Amino acid sequence: VRHLLGIKELSVEDIELIFSTTDQFKEVLQRPIKKVPSLRDLTIANVFFENSTRTRLSFELAEKRLSADVVNFSASSSSVKKGETLLDTVQNILAMKVDMVVIRHSSPGAPHFLAKHIQANVINAGDGTHEHPTQALLDAYSMREKIGDLAGKRIAIIGDILHSRVALSNIFLLKKLGSEVMVCSPPTLLPKHIGQLGVKVEHDVRKALAWCDVANVLRIQLERQQIKYFPSLREYSLYFGINKAMLDALERPIVLMHPGPINRGVELSSDAADSHHSIILDQVENGVAVRMAVLYLLAGQR
Ligand code: CP
Repeated sequence: VRHLLGIKELSVEDIELIFSTTDQFKEVLQRPIKKVPSLRDLTIANVFFENSTRTRLSFELAEKRLSADVVNFSASSSSVKKGETLLDTVQNILAMKVDMVVIRHSSPGAPHFLAKHIQANVINAGDGTHEHPTQALLDAYSMREKIGDLAGKRIAIIGDILHSRVALSNIFLLKKLGSEVMVCSPPTLLPKHIGQLGVKVEHDVRKALAWCDVANVLRIQLERQQIKYFPSLREYSLYFGINKAMLDALERPIVLMHPGPINRGVELSSDAADSHHSIILDQVENGVAVRMAVLYLLAGQR
């Protein structure tokens, strides 16, 4: 595997190798000196055409912990604003002798397009509504850390499924690992092809919570909405919002996750997001080690 474009292309063995490599990098990150020389000969460009906090910073930290040279590109302050194309932009960055490109783009398939046209390794850091593979890897790794083997475990993905690349990558990954997967959202926020993904569908958030071992809650992606009929944020919060009392009422352990950024008071109340049920900041912490593993393994294929 030369690129990480999506979860769909990974085998269970690839995923297990990423997880066992992540275990090793988690150990490295506990040491006083958190750095290893593994990628000291490589230069990596983080090319972001969409906003990001967690993914961009954790890729940059992962690259620096592996001793790579790092350059960061943000479309909003670049010559993209003067009309330069995606391919020209990346070819120009590569002309500066860059070995790997981490790309986030609003168009589904942008990383696949690049991978066909350039020599560098390409890592998908989120392509439109399509996939966000490293997010799914860090989500599954964090679930496994908390509740063990995911085979047979019940995972509910609750929120805006239609516009979410996190939902799709999570579904692909969790199904590969043998989990039972449910999506829970208003009917207007489900993709038309949901029936082909092998997941249960629920529209009652209390029933979804009662069913699952893990609730992975997604935000409403206002920036991607093109449909006219849609619940308002107030309606969404009223019927689908999750608070701590709903989780406590289950009277059994439930793991609460969210990839971030959270819209507090919409999909999650603050008392739920900050409760003992939540592993949201563990997800962020694991993101660095997971991305170190992905970068390290791809570098080994060079
Ligand atoms: N989870 C995630 O992708 O967050 P960012 O958009 O901040 O990178």
